[in-house]
Amino acid sequence: MRNIMEIIKKRESVRTYDENRPIEGEILAQLKEIIQGKQVGPMNNKIRFRLLDMGKVSGQELRKLGTYGIIKGARFFLLGAVEDKEGSLEDYGYCLEKLVLQATALGLGTCWLSGTFRRSSFARQIEITPEELLPAISPVGYPAGRKRFVEKLFKAGTRSDKRKPWEKLFIGSDGLLPLPPEEAGKFKEVLEAVRLAPSSGNLQPWRIIRDEDGDFHLYLKGKREGKRPEGRIDSQKIDMGIAMCHFDLVAEERELKGGWARIEALKDSEPPLGDLEYISTWKEKEKA
Ligand SMILES: Cc1cc2nc3c(=O)[nH]c(=O)nc-3n(C[C@H](O)[C@H](O)[C@H](O)COP(=O)(O)O)c2cc1C
Repeated sequence: MRNIMEIIKKRESVRTYDENRPIEGEILAQLKEIIQGKQVGPMNNKIRFRLLDMGKVSGQELRKLGTYGIIKGARFFLLGAVEDKEGSLEDYGYCLEKLVLQATALGLGTCWLSGTFRRSSFARQIEITPEELLPAISPVGYPAGRKRFVEKLFKAGTRSDKRKPWEKLFIGSDGLLPLPPEEAGKFKEVLEAVRLAPSSGNLQPWRIIRDEDGDFHLYLKGKREGKRPEGRIDSQKIDMGIAMCHFDLVAEERELKGGWARIEALKDSEPPLGDLEYISTWKEKEKA
């Protein structure tokens, strides 16, 4: 993907698709090519993806593949399955966001869905095993010219075109004070890419602390202290993977070499700012 920042800025949730404009053969072939094979996330979970063509699903099954009226006019959906292990939701977020951005680069619209779809019916379409999860899906297609009322309502409700300011998201090495953009140096755009990421309910739960060695520690800020969801699909873990994906893609384009690794000691230690949950650390590779 070239001009990754541009693609990140271009991506927005599309909930109304153009029913009269099918994905052309060449673009469809490229899309199929992109999702082929197993993909692996930074926490080493493998994910298999499938492009579901609703046009090939029988009538009875088709009626069950609903999105509660949220998505309209989409013929194709991206679905994935991952084994339910540590880091699987982060890895799913990471890998599906990469596909979402590649689809955006092809001129297609997408929309992350982790709540408003009939999970069990879609799970059947990817022949999910008892060990696997289907954390989220996305329609793919050309956006319709006009957005519907429900879509406008959703966008207004989540203030989806807005993001929190830098100082709320990025923290300096004392673990308390904000890291101003001018102090982020060559990582300014990398962090900006994280800030622009989509997140469930647009809650933007990512927080990054840069320590004195220049390592970036990613944390999840809980919606409400002590009330993390108990279910197997925690959308905010998916959000974490999406942020990691944006970080990596822009770092890679800027030739900043490094990668994510979980520091075991940080997992159990008390985070500096209270209700933060440690996720992973991005470390720059030593330069030769
Ligand atoms: C993990 C995840 C789950 C989401 N689940 C839903 C969903 O179930 N239904 C929906 O309409 N939008 C869903 N969204 C879309 C977000 O509301 C949207 O990304 C956010 O408001 C920012 O808007 P934007 O994508 O247009 O930039 C989800 C987004 C993410 C990242």
